[in-house]
Amino acid sequence: MNLHYTVVAGVIFLMLYEMHFLESRRIEFTNIKCSSMDEEFSNIEYCFLKAANRSYKYLSLKIRLLKIPVHQFTVNLALRKRSNGLMPFNQNITFDGCKMVADAGNRMISFLFSLFKPYSNINHSCPYDHDLLVDRLPTHFVHHQFTGYIPFPEGDYVFNSNWIVNGSNRVSVRVHFSFT
Ligand SMILES: *[C@@H]1O[C@H](CO)[C@@H](O)[C@H](O)[C@H]1NC(C)=O
Ligand SMILES: *[C@@H]1O[C@H](CO)[C@@H](O)[C@H](O)[C@H]1NC(C)=O
Ligand SMILES: *[C@@H]1O[C@H](CO)[C@@H](O)[C@H](O)[C@H]1NC(C)=O
Ligand SMILES: *[C@@H]1O[C@H](CO)[C@@H](O)[C@H](O)[C@H]1NC(C)=O
Repeated sequence: MNLHYTVVAGVIFLMLYEMHFLESRRIEFTNIKCSSMDEEFSNIEYCFLKAANRSYKYLSLKIRLLKIPVHQFTVNLALRKRSNGLMPFNQNITFDGCKMVADAGNRMISFLFSLFKPYSNINHSCPYDHDLLVDRLPTHFVHHQFTGYIPFPEGDYVFNSNWIVNGSNRVSVRVHFSFT
């Protein structure tokens, strides 16, 4: 009987410990870089990381589009883990950007898109006839999406996106973050 309770208590302790452990993990943005490869197509109005205080850190970017409307584009999203430790996580997919919002069927697309979608005006189908915004995307939101998917290994990650129009890469946005 005593042993039984000890085992139950042990299991509960481990569950709480595990929950605490997961909650105490953090995502930190470490770097962001936005590049316009074609100054006639777009320019970067701003692109930065900011720490409002210890618990509220976010990224914002605004890309001005100069040749609107955009009726077709391709997106290449890649998420790479930088170290070569166990369980490397590398994803690199290319797809029709106009179908990104509708294409919830592809789990990887919807996951990568979900990392920023509610903080962005890139949330509808083509045509795009306005500047592209990601407005104060907080780390805790990314963290929530990240941990809700599959258990990611700790480490340094790079999220890279290329926005391709008529076969040429026009804009790239790269975000480095650590998951510890
Ligand atoms: C951090 O800043 C945000 C936004 O200004 C605010 O809502 C929040 O209460 C602040 N948190 C702390 C711990 O100061
Ligand atoms: C992803 O794949 C595309 C197309 O094959 C390639 O151009 C790009 O460099 C790759 N991105 C990364 C981050 O590996
Ligand atoms: C897209 O985002 C904008 C700005 O955040 C918001 O006003 C709009 O309602 C959103 N549209 C959809 C379809 O979610
Ligand atoms: C892409 O091609 C279409 C059709 O030829 C053209 O109307 C549009 O201006 C092109 N966009 C860019 C950014 O080159």
